[in-house]
Amino acid sequence: MNPSSKSEHMSQLRSKVVARGYSSATSCYVESARGAVVRDVDGREFIDFAGGIGVMSVGHSHPKVVAAIKDQAEKFTHTCFMVLPYASAVKLAEKLCAVTPGSFPKATLFINSGAEACENAVKIARYYTKKPAIICFENGFHGRTLLAMSLTSKVKPYKFGFGPFAPEIYRMPYAYCYRCPFGLKYPSCDVACADYLKKFFISHVAAERTAALIAEPVQGEGGFVTPPPEYFPKLNKICHENGIIFIADEIQTGMGRTGKMFAMEHWKVEPDLMTVAKSLAAGMPLSAVVGRKEIMDAVHPSGVGGTYGGNPVACRAGLAVMEIFEEENVLQKAKVLGKKLRERFDTLKKEYELIGDVRGMGPMLALELVKDRETKEPAAEEAKAFVKLCYEKGLIILSCGSFGNVIRTLMPLVITDEQVERGLAIMEDGFAALSK
Ligand SMILES: Cc1ncc(COP(=O)(O)O)c(C=O)c1O
Repeated sequence: MNPSSKSEHMSQLRSKVVARGYSSATSCYVESARGAVVRDVDGREFIDFAGGIGVMSVGHSHPKVVAAIKDQAEKFTHTCFMVLPYASAVKLAEKLCAVTPGSFPKATLFINSGAEACENAVKIARYYTKKPAIICFENGFHGRTLLAMSLTSKVKPYKFGFGPFAPEIYRMPYAYCYRCPFGLKYPSCDVACADYLKKFFISHVAAERTAALIAEPVQGEGGFVTPPPEYFPKLNKICHENGIIFIADEIQTGMGRTGKMFAMEHWKVEPDLMTVAKSLAAGMPLSAVVGRKEIMDAVHPSGVGGTYGGNPVACRAGLAVMEIFEEENVLQKAKVLGKKLRERFDTLKKEYELIGDVRGMGPMLALELVKDRETKEPAAEEAKAFVKLCYEKGLIILSCGSFGNVIRTLMPLVITDEQVERGLAIMEDGFAALSK
């Protein structure tokens, strides 16, 4: 970075006044962003394949979202829904109840972040079932607050040094077919990883003590790990046979990210409870738990909630997002984008040995990098170098995965063809440079 640049000055100040643990993936400072393009304070332009970690489905500063925020801010910015309620939260709750999978009656709770949504889903499940245990998964990510961090799998950086963790959390292997924890191959495995839940009740925690199982349909931070079609129907069935609430954490997969409004639709599973955040309100801090009305309503009044949950400005942004999805056919755009990306990534895989696996759903796609396709040794340094190369050429892209060796795409779903092509060209150059 040019030492006299505005970004560098800001970096110097930041190192003095911003906590080190609250780090950033890039070193530029944003001035403005629109659609899938971000500009920094030094006038550099970036194509955004990260979307603020999958938050900007409708694009940065969509005019409709901006207008809704401005209009609401001029009327009132906060009363606390738990003191003086307002219509936008009720209308957005109605929308969420309608668009989430499941034709049964539902209810919605608004809070602020993804972690808070996971915490509340667990609280509600425990309250309803009067049972303590929660089953979660290896490679899972559910946030950074105490309970959410305890549900999260990856130790460094998320858990290291932050214990002790919340009790009554039990972790089982996930359907990571590329690195099957059972050493099996799909489909001859018959999805034994899902049936394993029955053995888990014997060796880890009794079904009679288990309130809920929480799973991401496609593991986000864990590396876009995508289970086969039989996986969630099997898990859901075992849960229901044992009075266990099935919670789908759709915080990263939801709001069109996988080409359907919610990823569980791909598996035709109707979760009892769902957590939603990220693209729900185009960057305004808003999250939700949505689910079966009898479960959601079990909790006594004031048992859940918070000062800011369902903030009116955030709810108006959320309503604008819902309108944009309908008016601009965002789901169709996501499907087309997903198809294009998949074709290009499959071609890259044929060309570069470094790419061991291409996976994901719709435009939520990932490339797992390996040093050797036989041993599947994770290529974490290469992934890091790739992200840096892309950044230097004007593309913001993120890595993920338990080994840090997975490159993922979370761009705005409204990205233009020309912008996708610019981004893909940078990715292609990046792989060429790394494979020299
Ligand atoms: C699946 C999933 N759950 C929960 C979270 C936590 O959300 P937040 O960072 O808003 O607390 C995330 C964030 O990446 C996520 O991807």
